Amino acid sequence: MLITNLSKTILRRGGIKFFKDDFLNQVIRTMSANSDSIKSADRLEGHKLSVWNEFIQLATDHKPVNLGQGFPDYPAPSHVTKALVDVQNDENILLQQYTRGFGHPRLVKALSKLYSMLIERPVDPNNHVLVTVGAYEALYCSIMAWVNPGDEVIIIEPFFDCYKPMVELAGGKPVFIPLRPPTNTSYVISSGDWKLDMTELEHKFSNKTKMIIVNTPHNPLGKVFTREELTQIADLCKKYNVIALMDEVYEWIIFNGKQHVRMASFPDMWDRTITVGSAGKTFSLTGWKIGWAYGSEKMIRPLQLIHQNSIYVCATPLQEAIARGFETEIANYGTNKSYWKELSDDLQEKRDEMVQVLTAANMNPTIPEGGYFLLADFSELANRVNYSSITDGTKDYRFTKWLIIEKKLQGIPPSVFYSEDHQKLVENFIRFCFFKKPETLAKAGEIIKKL
Ligand SMILES: Cc1ncc(COP(=O)(O)O)c(C=O)c1O
Repeated sequence: MLITNLSKTILRRGGIKFFKDDFLNQVIRTMSANSDSIKSADRLEGHKLSVWNEFIQLATDHKPVNLGQGFPDYPAPSHVTKALVDVQNDENILLQQYTRGFGHPRLVKALSKLYSMLIERPVDPNNHVLVTVGAYEALYCSIMAWVNPGDEVIIIEPFFDCYKPMVELAGGKPVFIPLRPPTNTSYVISSGDWKLDMTELEHKFSNKTKMIIVNTPHNPLGKVFTREELTQIADLCKKYNVIALMDEVYEWIIFNGKQHVRMASFPDMWDRTITVGSAGKTFSLTGWKIGWAYGSEKMIRPLQLIHQNSIYVCATPLQEAIARGFETEIANYGTNKSYWKELSDDLQEKRDEMVQVLTAANMNPTIPEGGYFLLADFSELANRVNYSSITDGTKDYRFTKWLIIEKKLQGIPPSVFYSEDHQKLVENFIRFCFFKKPETLAKAGEIIKKL
């Protein structure tokens, strides 16, 4: 009471003489309200900072040989980086200004030409494509545009870690199903040996299921889903009236002549499939953060609405340079000049080198069929090293953190790609990225040998 009267006196002295007490009380309430009582939106309840924050910080603090994050530590293809320099010097000054919101005309035209050829149906540049801030935004728009509160979304484990929080932000319920490796094998296994149990999968479908998210080629396993596996998934989608959200960002990184199969090309799937791609992965320039989604007009229009009301338009010069990159790649498609061929050939060699080093060190790798990550099983090695200096978290997290801090080699604990209930399935594994220059892989090899 005393404080209130004092405040009123001060306000009146400050020249606010002619206001009534009611108004002054309101001003005082506002002045004295504690901002601690302002809470973030309920939809963020339970959401945490992602693993990348901690592991990027560990890399900064301990300067390990970094096989953690997925990008090359050598130059991106020069025909695309040079295209960006050319764009900056282009006499068309409008290339420095806003472009079409749903995708720069030259880029959507290139994407439409490429995918029309690949899925053997016309992909309309204006109605079937949306350009986004990386594949990340394409995934976000797809989930926000189609998932209602209470809807169930089937997520295959291990999964790219943003799927789960995105589904939860939309109010949906993630329903998990793990890929399982064969047990008690005496041979070195391939990512193709990690399988979905199709009966278990069918049990995950219900009348609440709205969407299934499939990532092929897969991060972190490198599994390339076969036509047969995708056909079984497609049949379930049709049977239960479900959308397939296909994350195909590693579509150009495939080994040993395996084939990347596109769900959008399957009979009766065009109208229930959204396919997501990434220029970051396609041209090895992850910092450019340009991605896209394509599908039928019915599928893509709702994504355009989310994009229009959040991002609105992506960077014009980047889109123009990527469009020029695609034009070159389309012209070189299937020839020895193709960057995508060079990329797969180069990464296959790196994969083989990494597999050899890990096998020799008893860190049994699953040989990836695509992408640029692999999982290695460290259970045999774990009996011989002492990583008890790290006491918090799951076993794979403790081992990975110990490897970074004590041995200066960075990987990622794969349990972050699992729901809590299934994290035990990968407690003996670590993920490495092998998209690194030979010197980096050699240094990593030395550390692994010494383990
Ligand atoms: C499976 C998968 N999907 C999506 C993304 C995100 O791609 P972008 O960098 O284009 O947003 C990544 C990035 O690592 C990924 O591995």
